Amino acid sequence: MTSIYLDYNASTPIDPSVTAAMRPYLDEAFGNPSSGHWASLPAKAALEKARGQIAALLGCAPDEIVFTSGGSEANNLAIKGTFFALRHKGEHIVTTTVEHPAILAPCRFLEQLGAAVTYVPVDSTGRVDPEDVRRAITPRTILISVMHANNEVGTIEPIEEIGAIAREHGVRFHTDAAQSVGKIATKVDTLGVGLLTIAGHKLYAPKGVGALYVRGGLRLEPLIHGAGHEHGRRAGTESALLA
Ligand SMILES: Cc1ncc(COP(=O)(O)O)c(C=O)c1O
Repeated sequence: MTSIYLDYNASTPIDPSVTAAMRPYLDEAFGNPSSGHWASLPAKAALEKARGQIAALLGCAPDEIVFTSGGSEANNLAIKGTFFALRHKGEHIVTTTVEHPAILAPCRFLEQLGAAVTYVPVDSTGRVDPEDVRRAITPRTILISVMHANNEVGTIEPIEEIGAIAREHGVRFHTDAAQSVGKIATKVDTLGVGLLTIAGHKLYAPKGVGALYVRGGLRLEPLIHGAGHEHGRRAGTESALLA
């Protein structure tokens, strides 16, 4: 019996053009992109080319893209990185009841460390009312996180409206766009987000790579401390193969 795979929300196969683009970094160009000598150059060039391609897709600057190990890490960096960077200003986070566990679990974890999290409910179609998000904001709110496209039922959330509300209140806004990037428009200025999550394996890249868009000037505490990779936002030798 032939099996037919219909679960591209769970994961996509690696596109043959992606495999071809990865090949040189498996076979030859093994240099550390951060080394200061000739062997780093092809790897560094590949990394920066990929960063530029993601930036073009999102309509942002290349240095606003931080490579991560996937969507879960990008979400954790957005949520925990904001809390640890801004908790002197407030401890309140607004999110929804229908987020992916990679948002809900970090929120629950932060509650143990003193965060107050409001989980805004959704309607019968899975849509959150932007006015409910507005009503949840307090003077202590440091972050709003609402997913772009739902991974279970496909509902597209009203991100532009929530972005406008976040801007009005001067609150940082993150969207988990793991299920939307590459499928619908995700220009960060149109959406009005300061942080946006990408998961590579949802759009024909290998598993183990993702990215977080971080609007220029936003402070985030890194999850992984170490050498100054990714402009000090995520330590660890970068992978030209995965990028
Ligand atoms: C909406 C959403 N966010 C985050 C993730 C986690 O991404 P990753 O598997 O790359 O860690 C997924 C994956 O299922 C997802 O659907």
